[in-house]
Amino acid sequence: MCGIVGYTGDKQASPILLDGLEKLEYRGYDSAGIAVENGGKLTVSKTKGRLALLREKTENGAAVQGVTGIGHTRWATHGKPSEENSHPHVSESGRVAIVHNGIIENYMELKQMLLNRGRSFVSETDTEVAAQLIDFYYEGDILQAVAKAVREFEGNYALGILCVDEPGKLIAVRNHAPLIVGYALDGNYFASDVMALLAHTRSVTYLADEEIAVLEKTQVHYYSSFLDPIEKKVERVEWDSAAADKGGYEHFMFKEIMEQPEVIRRTVLPLIRDGRAEMEQIISKAMVANMKRLFIVACGSSYHVGIIAKYNIEKLARIPVEVVLASEFRYCDPIVDENTLVILISQSGETTDTLEALREAKERGATTLGIVNVEGSSIAKAADLVLYTKAGPEIAVATTKAYSAQLALTVLIALYLAEQRGTIDQATYDEILGALLAVPEQMGTILEQKAYIQYLAYQHFHNDDIFFIGRNVDYALSLEGSLKLKEISYIHSEAYAAGELKHGTISLVEDGTLVIAIASCRRLTEKTLSNAMEVRARGAQVLALAAESVKEEVSHVADQVMTIPDTHDVLLPSLAILPLQLFAYYVALYRGCDIDKPRNLAKSVTVE
Ligand code: G6P
Repeated sequence: MCGIVGYTGDKQASPILLDGLEKLEYRGYDSAGIAVENGGKLTVSKTKGRLALLREKTENGAAVQGVTGIGHTRWATHGKPSEENSHPHVSESGRVAIVHNGIIENYMELKQMLLNRGRSFVSETDTEVAAQLIDFYYEGDILQAVAKAVREFEGNYALGILCVDEPGKLIAVRNHAPLIVGYALDGNYFASDVMALLAHTRSVTYLADEEIAVLEKTQVHYYSSFLDPIEKKVERVEWDSAAADKGGYEHFMFKEIMEQPEVIRRTVLPLIRDGRAEMEQIISKAMVANMKRLFIVACGSSYHVGIIAKYNIEKLARIPVEVVLASEFRYCDPIVDENTLVILISQSGETTDTLEALREAKERGATTLGIVNVEGSSIAKAADLVLYTKAGPEIAVATTKAYSAQLALTVLIALYLAEQRGTIDQATYDEILGALLAVPEQMGTILEQKAYIQYLAYQHFHNDDIFFIGRNVDYALSLEGSLKLKEISYIHSEAYAAGELKHGTISLVEDGTLVIAIASCRRLTEKTLSNAMEVRARGAQVLALAAESVKEEVSHVADQVMTIPDTHDVLLPSLAILPLQLFAYYVALYRGCDIDKPRNLAKSVTVE
């Protein structure tokens, strides 16, 4: 969603701001803008639409001179995408410019107060209210004015502020929306996402809620919202800027699909010692012994990982698992206590619903474990325990490699819990761990067959509706396969538990409807095939996904078959997801879609 960058230093700010915003494009946005201060004068430039238009308008930044500035990409919440509504917003006096992520919930009240005092507004946004309130409180010290204003704000926000009366200075404020300060020899930076900083520095400080940073060219000071000075740690970011390049591929999504074997190795190998899943330091033996129940809470694809993890944990460790969408968990009065472990799965570590679910679980006494890809993210900081997926930066909006890394990590968790609970025998344990270690190579084999998937995509990309069916983990895979397809190709697609077909969905099947039948799970292949026969009898074309060993059996029923190598049941989803990702990718490619930045979607959803 929205992105923030700020810079003050020796160099011209505009090109730095534009480059930084470009690195945040993947998050999703519909307008962009910059504000630069030059010798006490402010220049603001904004456009609706893509950042390239802002580059054009500012002659790549050359037309907006100055060494201190702020920039923003906006994903519209309050007010439609337009030039007036885009950020930066400037107070009526022209003194204060501000960029903002999140929502100031009580803005109407504050706006009314300012209107009563004769201020007028040009936009519909809560952000302009913030700029005006800070200006209203300004008495010669921008830090004092910001602190006074933010004490009145309710909601989630990250703010970047500059005041033309105090040249060379930037203020950054965080409250439940990420903000990171970066230090470099040429000056100091802030951004809402580390991707915008990597080209300049890997030395950063993560702001915590209700903290304020004051940045000048050679120094940064930190304060509480009551202006008590605070000391902050400088941390080193592991990712490097090369990881955020397309590396010669046409799309980030394709590059990220191809990276999956390596990502699995990076994620699981550090957690395996002497043939065992080693997690005692994170999930203590005592906690496992007392565990009555486990919740997995997440959104989107991370939620789909949760469903597969439920099947695997229940099967191996015999601990009851509930999987709940984060946006539902918050409001369902969940029954959790100190013997419950709540696992929050999140690539970004910033999804608002997941973060709020975490807070809810903690308040109710549960222990929280974050499975997170981004170090220093809000969920990583707020959770009691953290396990990191090592997927590296994921740029394509539709997740692929982070999904696979999460999935592999949950298999290790299932093994660890099963061993601690004594619910797994040695041979099964060794077989599953061995199968997990073989996944990267088997993934490589599937990726080598991409030309066949591309051929299938070419045959089917004209379809208007595509259904996915499967049972058990294959049902969970159907959900993810269908989501991938609709996210990037805009084809209407639905996923159903195969057994539910006869309870309604089958009425949608007509001549030529494409049904993707996922039958990777061998013990259920026959059952799923009987559902495939039912849809075929009603005119559907069936494209099946099955393990190599049952290919022949499946090809009697399906029109076409995609295969994956045989493995232990628990690992089937880790392989079966690849053809589904590739199918979605190639279908979107043939349809000419904006694969990495699908319309209306955001990489990280930071509003409810
Ligand atoms: C957005 C992304 C999805 C992602 C979901 C949850 O919708 O486009 O790819 O699965 O958010 O995000 P998280 O970062 O919490 O895993």
